[in-house]
Amino acid sequence: MPFKLLSSPLQGFTDFRFRNSFNKYFGGIDTFYAPYIRLNGKPEIKLAYQRDILPKNNTGLELIPQIMTNDADEFLYVAKYVQGLGYKELNWNLGCPYPMVAKRGLGSGLINDPAKINGILHKVYAESDIIVSVKMRLGYKNSEEIFRVLPFLEAYPIKSIAIHPRIGKQLYKGEVDLDSFQRCIENTNHKIYYNGNITSVAGFNELAERFPMTDHWMIGRGIIADPFLPEMIKSNTSAYPENRIEIFSKFHDALLHDYSQVLSGPGHIIMKMFHFWEYFISSFSNSQKGLKKIKKAKSMSAYENAVRDILNNEGNREFS
Ligand SMILES: Cc1cc2nc3c(=O)[nH]c(=O)nc-3n(C[C@H](O)[C@H](O)[C@H](O)COP(=O)(O)O)c2cc1C
Repeated sequence: MPFKLLSSPLQGFTDFRFRNSFNKYFGGIDTFYAPYIRLNGKPEIKLAYQRDILPKNNTGLELIPQIMTNDADEFLYVAKYVQGLGYKELNWNLGCPYPMVAKRGLGSGLINDPAKINGILHKVYAESDIIVSVKMRLGYKNSEEIFRVLPFLEAYPIKSIAIHPRIGKQLYKGEVDLDSFQRCIENTNHKIYYNGNITSVAGFNELAERFPMTDHWMIGRGIIADPFLPEMIKSNTSAYPENRIEIFSKFHDALLHDYSQVLSGPGHIIMKMFHFWEYFISSFSNSQKGLKKIKKAKSMSAYENAVRDILNNEGNREFS
């Protein structure tokens, strides 16, 4: 069955710089979801959020902006803003697990308040023609919460509900609850997308076999850990391209170049790249040693040496 692969947003990682370089060197992603926009109590969108979704910074890729809010007026404000840029859809984040967020009734902390979700949707649909989609977890405290929300969502023409079948309290750890995901599919007429722990072609194929009606799959950390993954899933192969290291190296250099333009000083640039490497390293064999070297790097040349070591070491390996 034909299917779509979607890039699940990662605040601090999958910004427009990442998306553009990813798209140039790897591909395989049909649609990117931008990391959330959050207002700070004022009808004002931070410049960094604005820059991230500006169409001129996102040419050649399909992008859907996202909002994290528990307020209909904020939703409407951001909806109008993104429509003004030409976007047709706004994705609503009901999944963020961080306690600071959830305690304020945002992200996954809103799932246990179906009446509030209903009220927000009611007003949004009454006052805007934006297409709404939702990205959510099973709940914050327990996985029953979503089953009290789904009946309310039936009343609205929501485009899709992407479900990451964990609860907020798990953060990003522990098992994904595939049985509950199945129950979600059975308890809604809406289109359900799957999100969570897709990290290999074999793992994807198992999920696709278990959920044959699912044809939209969101990948978050997996595309940073292995940016070749989406294209390999699409081609149903576990073989990397022969010039794997060369491609990765160009991608890395493009990211480094772009962040070097906007971050000040080696400390900030290396830290930014180190956070990417915390993911990248899982597809390299001499993992922890190389990562430590990057973390310890105090100058750009020390950083570049550490990266070269990792890539050269990998280049000597045989890939099947
Ligand atoms: C550092 C980090 C930042 C994230 N930022 C967002 C975000 O802005 N919006 C969102 O909907 N999800 C966000 N997520 C959740 C991911 O999009 C995704 O739902 C989650 O990681 C599970 O999918 P995965 O196992 O494929 O990574 C974030 C996750 C991480 C680890």
